Order: sequence, then C-alpha cells, then structure tokens
Amino acid sequence: MKNNKFEYGDFVILIDEKDRSKMIKLKVGGRYSSQYGFIDHSSIVDITDGSIVETNKGFKYKVFSPTYIDYVMHLKRKAQIVYPKDSAMILMWADVYPGLKVLEAGIGQGALSIAILRALADKGELCTYEVREDFIDMAKETIREFLQYTANHRIIHGNVYDGFDGVYDRIILDLPEPWHVIKHCDNGLVSGGIIVAYLPTILQVKNFVDELKNSSMFDLIETFEVMKRPWKVDGLSVRPEMWIYNHSAFIVKARKITKNK
Ligand SMILES: C[S@@+](CC[C@H](N)C(=O)[O-])C[C@H]1O[C@@H](n2cnc3c(N)ncnc32)[C@H](O)[C@@H]1O
Repeated sequence: MKNNKFEYGDFVILIDEKDRSKMIKLKVGGRYSSQYGFIDHSSIVDITDGSIVETNKGFKYKVFSPTYIDYVMHLKRKAQIVYPKDSAMILMWADVYPGLKVLEAGIGQGALSIAILRALADKGELCTYEVREDFIDMAKETIREFLQYTANHRIIHGNVYDGFDGVYDRIILDLPEPWHVIKHCDNGLVSGGIIVAYLPTILQVKNFVDELKNSSMFDLIETFEVMKRPWKVDGLSVRPEMWIYNHSAFIVKARKITKNK
C-alpha cells in the first residue's frame, strides 16, 4: 500500500452487505467472484483504504487493509494458531518489548511469531524452533507476506525438547509437551526471565506447572484463560451475544529466580 492506497500484491479484506468477510491478494488480471457478482482487482488498485466498491450487479463491499486479526483469522489453517485474544495477553504477560531476545517453539502457521515480531519492532531477536520443515516453509511465507521485514527472525529446524542454543529473556511455547523445555532454562533463560506456555487442556497445564515447581527455578507461577465476551448493541437489543467461541487454551506464565545459596 502506498499513501493509504492499494497496490497490486496487497492483501485486502472485502466485507459484504451482511458483514461477511473475505481476504484476497490483488493480482494483475485478478477477479473476485461471489453470488453477488464480480469485482475486478484493477478496480481496487489505487483506491483508498476504507473505500466502498460495487460488483457488476451493484452489490457494495467495504474494502480495508487487513489488521493482524483479519490476517491471521483468514489464513487457511494447517495448524492450530494462537487466537488473537490470547496472543494479546501472552505479549503482555510475557512483557515482550523492543530489544529482547525471545525464544519461541513451535512455529505452526506463524501467527504468534508475527505478533512477537511486531512487539519487538525490529529490535532484539526472535528465534523460533520448529520440528516440521513443511511448517517452516509455510510460516516463513505467511510471516513475510504480512510483515515484509523479518531480519531479526531466526528459524531453527529442530526439536526444542532436546535443547536450544543461546540465552533468552523470554521463552514462549506453543507445543504439546512444554515441560520438556524447562530443564534447558537452567542455562537458556536469564534470571528474572519469563516463560509462557499455551496449552489447550488442563492436564497439560498440570504437568507443566508441576515441572516448573519441581525444577525450583521458577516463581510467580500464574495460570489463566482469556474469555472474550462480545455484546450485541443494536437499538433496544443490548445483551451478550447468544453464541460465543468458548475455549481456546490456557496460558501459564512463570518467572525465573536465582535461589540464594
Ligand atoms: C499449535 S502449533 C503452533 C502454532 C503457532 N503458535 C501459531 O500461532 O501459528 C504447534 C507447533 O509446534 C511444533 N512442534 C511440536 N513439537 C515440537 C518440538 N518438540 N520442537 C519444535 N517444534 C515442535 C509443531 O510441528 C507445530 O508446528
């Protein structure tokens, strides 16, 4: 996008009159088609973010540049992503800010990696361990297409349970058995550093917290989940939405301590 106007190569979000959305990438000669008719991509190029375009049948679509939430929620899912309501909390609870060295595992779709890289704002480093090469390739593309800059992102093809190189200020884990990483925090996480794990089931939480405690390396252990409760506010109908997305995963956070001898 240049001067707030769309260019070929940009992703855009098209929102129809019933507020249903699609994400498309603008291509030379491209055409978006739906039951409401078609829109040529050329008619979106050079218009301003937030404009309205019409299909050949006269149906209106709002056109926006994708926010982070739009982008990750419209990805074709090959792995379960960290939901934006949770990544927002993870960034705050892990206290991620520019200049830190952050270790992440695994990469999945790259949704959390993008959130961390944005919080680092091109300063510091994100190192992501991932066992599956196909996920690395897919996530690299997903991250590059949204962020363009990725110079401070190092991706390592490897099993983080076997250990990792370097010493980090933060460790953020979204994989099935994060308790195997705790022993590597002895040398791999600074004292005062923060570890966070994202865990779909409470049995995983119990294993992880037990291991944090057994290690005697961690304190300030917190476990929580994030409930986002949308409300309908429409004329006299002012009430919680009838249906909500209920459970994604639990978040566990702990801080490394240095024990006095
Ligand atoms: C749920 S996905 C991560 C999703 C990612 N956080 C996102 O927001 O897109 C879990 C990832 O962990 C990877 N993984 C599982 N075990 C691993 C291990 N021992 N070391 C490194 N990566 C691992 C999987 O291959 C998968 O890509």
